[in-house]
Amino acid sequence: MGLMDGKRGLVVGIANDHSYAYFLAESLLAQGAECLFTHLPGDKMKRRVAKALSQLGQDDPWLESMDASSDEDLDRVFNKIGEDFGKMDFLVHSIAYADKEWLSVGNFTKTPRAAYCQALDISAYTYLAMANRSVPLMSDGGSMLAMSYYGSVKAVPGYNVMGVAKAALESTSRYLAYELGPKNIRVNTISGGPLRTMSALAVGGLTEIMDWTRKKSPLGRNVTGKDVGDAAVFLLSDLSSGITGQNIYVDCGYSAMGI
Ligand SMILES: NC(=O)c1ccc[n+]([C@@H]2O[C@H](COP(=O)([O-])OP(=O)(O)OC[C@H]3O[C@@H](n4cnc5c(N)ncnc54)[C@H](O)[C@@H]3O)[C@@H](O)[C@H]2O)c1
Repeated sequence: MGLMDGKRGLVVGIANDHSYAYFLAESLLAQGAECLFTHLPGDKMKRRVAKALSQLGQDDPWLESMDASSDEDLDRVFNKIGEDFGKMDFLVHSIAYADKEWLSVGNFTKTPRAAYCQALDISAYTYLAMANRSVPLMSDGGSMLAMSYYGSVKAVPGYNVMGVAKAALESTSRYLAYELGPKNIRVNTISGGPLRTMSALAVGGLTEIMDWTRKKSPLGRNVTGKDVGDAAVFLLSDLSSGITGQNIYVDCGYSAMGI
């Protein structure tokens, strides 16, 4: 018996076997979930994601190309889920993007308008865009989850415009929770600790952030993908039936510390 038996959902954000979304999928699959996946457009991206999925035992996955900044791509993918399955129960949003050039320490003030808007579009607006398209498919209720980071509420040197985008993401999540609550659709975010992924490597000073977090965290270590994947299962399963509009820290306690 798994916590996710009988539940189907879309997991967006696997780039490789280091991605947060990879670990979320691993935990979801271990609890009996049926997972559908997307990859960024292009054969190389498809091959990379398919390779990671095969490590999860998904040799014949439901896998569609999707650039989340394209409304046409979003429509195509969510329409196809409707055609192929009729309904779904959960959504995982684990994507973010900001031009690396503006993610170095001391470089926030110079962020150009286009880079700022692109970061907010891909990292925050897309949660709303996916949620909106998920609603008709969540006819029996559902649960949605997006990945955030502490840089949304505190200034983390180097995180820069991505911190602004995460603040927007967390706020978007609360407004979605308010509007979708009456349909029994729950909407939450997890604020995960730093994990060495492809996107994280674009943030200036990642090694310092990870060293500092490990030293200051009550648990005395950095998070693992499984720490976050298992918390995601809780939020996407019926065990969390009364939780919505929340941002849950899975960060070994780092955010609880004053000094
Ligand atoms: N790694 C960390 O330290 C950390 C900490 C807290 C939160 N997060 C968040 O976790 C999420 C996943 O990031 P990750 O660290 O696993 O890195 P990752 O590089 O493995 O994943 C990022 C994903 O975003 C996808 N993406 C980027 N632009 C896209 C677009 N236009 N359309 C569709 N997909 C797009 C990429 O393809 C990739 O799969 C992000 O929201 C990130 O901000 C990461």
